[in-house]
Amino acid sequence: MSKKILIISSSPRKGGNSDSLCDSFQCGAEEAGNSVKKIALREKNIACCTGCGACALSHKCVQQDDMDVIVDEMIAADIIVLATPVYFYTMCAQLKTMIDRMNARYTEVVNKAFYFILTAETTDAQKMERTADGLRGFLACLKGAEEMGILYAPGLGKAGAARSSPAFQKAYEMGKRIH
Ligand SMILES: Cc1cc2nc3c(=O)[nH]c(=O)nc-3n(C[C@H](O)[C@H](O)[C@H](O)COP(=O)(O)O)c2cc1C
Repeated sequence: MSKKILIISSSPRKGGNSDSLCDSFQCGAEEAGNSVKKIALREKNIACCTGCGACALSHKCVQQDDMDVIVDEMIAADIIVLATPVYFYTMCAQLKTMIDRMNARYTEVVNKAFYFILTAETTDAQKMERTADGLRGFLACLKGAEEMGILYAPGLGKAGAARSSPAFQKAYEMGKRIH
């Protein structure tokens, strides 16, 4: 049965490495008959969590921006892809800001399958593990979340490098295997 897939591309670089791998994943997943939506966080207005605590009771954030629409898309999806460049060996700020803002509604995101796409300049993929661990911390808070796959794409510096790397085909195949 075809799946509803939401890809969250968090890099500030449009057409950059993780963004290109998202496109390749999307291409494979669509060819396999799935329905795919991609959200680029750089195009969204998401303020930082202020830690005010109001959402603990209301399950609503006092800030009104694009976050509610993103959570609605996550709830509607069967599968969520989180893509990030490695920034100082953790996820980029755009993705962390989105995750922190899940505080109001993360309990609504249940039984989702997740894939991770990580890009970095280092050629040592092992060094990217701690970035994956950060994402796993988020999944640990979600009921029924399952990590289905992770694509480490090391050795990518300049924007565009991903398109001529082996990771580009791997991202396509990862998407294509979903059905
Ligand atoms: C602020 C910043 C921090 C970075 N930190 C790291 C790092 O800690 N380790 C690393 O290997 N690459 C680091 N990089 C390089 C990026 O991870 C790399 O260029 C990646 O391919 C960018 O992906 P993107 O094109 O999707 O943004 C950093 C780049 C920037 C702009």
